Amino acid sequence: MQVTVSRKAHFNAAHRLFKKEWTDKQNEAIFGKCANPHYHGHNYELIVHVTGKIDPETGYVMDMKVLKDLIKAEVEELLDHKNLNEQVAEFFDLIPTAENIAVVIYNKLKPHLNKAHTLSVTLYETPRNFVTFSG
Ligand code: NI
Repeated sequence: MQVTVSRKAHFNAAHRLFKKEWTDKQNEAIFGKCANPHYHGHNYELIVHVTGKIDPETGYVMDMKVLKDLIKAEVEELLDHKNLNEQVAEFFDLIPTAENIAVVIYNKLKPHLNKAHTLSVTLYETPRNFVTFSG
């Protein structure tokens, strides 16, 4: 029997979507307002889902306090109030789209989880636009 537990978190970050190899015009054509050379911010909402068996000892899949602290240490410390392009090494050569941010978050969290657990990360860039990465 597999049960999914989920924890919500949020962070604010600035980014710019652009490819160095492209002209400003090409970048604007593909990335629209997100190509703005002066950057802009998003209030990102994150939902981390962990799926596994209920531990008969505790009745938990995993201790949510542990998950909360892990998200704080690995994600919020890394991304909150940062300029993703300029300050976060993971995005020096990776366009900080919601898709890529979700993959980076997944890769930060996965090594710290029980190997028997399945991780899925949902990241809202706006209330209407969100992406999910499950490995
Ligand atoms: Ni944007």
